[in-house]
Amino acid sequence: MGQILITGGLGFIGVNLANYLLSNTEENIIIYDNMSRKNVIKNKEWLEQHTKARSHLQIIKGDICDFTSLKKNASDLEKIYHIAGQVAVTTSVKDPFLDFETNAKGTLNVLEMARQLNTDPLLIMTSTNKVYGALDGLKVIEKEKRYDFKEYKQGISETFPVDPHSPYGCSKYCAESYFKDYYRIYGLKTVVFRMSCIFGTHQWGTEDQGWIAHFIISSVLARPLTIYGDGKQVRDILFISDLIQAFQLALKNINKTKGEVYNIGGGVNNTISLLELLELLEEMLNRKITYDFDTWRPGDQKVYYSDTSKAKKDFNWVPKIPKEEGIRELFDWVRGNIQLF
Ligand SMILES: NC(=O)c1ccc[n+]([C@@H]2O[C@H](COP(=O)([O-])OP(=O)(O)OC[C@H]3O[C@@H](n4cnc5c(N)ncnc54)[C@H](O)[C@@H]3O)[C@@H](O)[C@H]2O)c1
Repeated sequence: MGQILITGGLGFIGVNLANYLLSNTEENIIIYDNMSRKNVIKNKEWLEQHTKARSHLQIIKGDICDFTSLKKNASDLEKIYHIAGQVAVTTSVKDPFLDFETNAKGTLNVLEMARQLNTDPLLIMTSTNKVYGALDGLKVIEKEKRYDFKEYKQGISETFPVDPHSPYGCSKYCAESYFKDYYRIYGLKTVVFRMSCIFGTHQWGTEDQGWIAHFIISSVLARPLTIYGDGKQVRDILFISDLIQAFQLALKNINKTKGEVYNIGGGVNNTISLLELLELLEEMLNRKITYDFDTWRPGDQKVYYSDTSKAKKDFNWVPKIPKEEGIRELFDWVRGNIQLF
């Protein structure tokens, strides 16, 4: 049996995916991760201890920016989940070179490595809704605790014009353009997921990225919390197990999905604002949460949620976990693992 490569496989999404594949398939998994994200050593320890299929797992400490190392560690690959990345808008604004090297050049390295294999691998990558930019031109309705779109009531679809508004948006759009074009030019079977907020267990959310986890961790541990903007920003949120199902279905239907881009998120039924999440957490904790406000961050969208109907049409995927259920699961995981934080 061929092998499966997960770049960034020790991060939040990667480790959950690796665990799923090890638990549900016979596949041999190679994780390739430079371990630059704080706390992912804990994901490594958890995966190694937790999995019953240890002999199917190989973990390599390596950087996608290092083409020679990537190529040396890749052979006989059937599928590549390209998940490694510089993940935060804030970091990209501070260090656009690091962001570009990781997201744009690193992705090109992965594609070139794949192109030079003779196994015709399937590839999927994790891009972002930030490629649509701040959506400033869209009419927005302001309510007591949230914004909403005046139009686009079913959310933003893949046909919406791309206009990245941050180095992160630019590098990811560059990466996904290469992904798409490697299908057209070289016939590599590539799929792009343009994702909204994904959340779940083993997520080390910070102020810079992973806001649902960050809000839950900060609230449970009574740590200081700052809201940038007015807190009425709305996002669609998707629980990790739903994302993993989307990966599986998209690859299973590769004849339909190759060369395509899909908006993947919780969709219109799973939207929440920052203030609404805090209110829900106050109920769950049965106490008030203290937080303060600061100015809006660059490129921050007042509202974003995905129209996921293309994914439904092409590979019959819809989100299954309601937002409250996912939030409860992550909340319980944080409460049950306080010593990790
Ligand atoms: N979590 C979300 O809500 C979300 C939303 C949209 C897009 N994404 C994208 O999904 C991917 C995974 O996100 P995540 O939330 O799991 O983040 P994460 O930070 O937990 O995981 C990323 C992993 O990539 C690794 N990595 C970073 N730079 C690397 C490099 N140069 N070489 C090898 N490994 C490297 C990190 O060590 C980390 O383990 C990222 O590409 C991110 O941009 C995530």
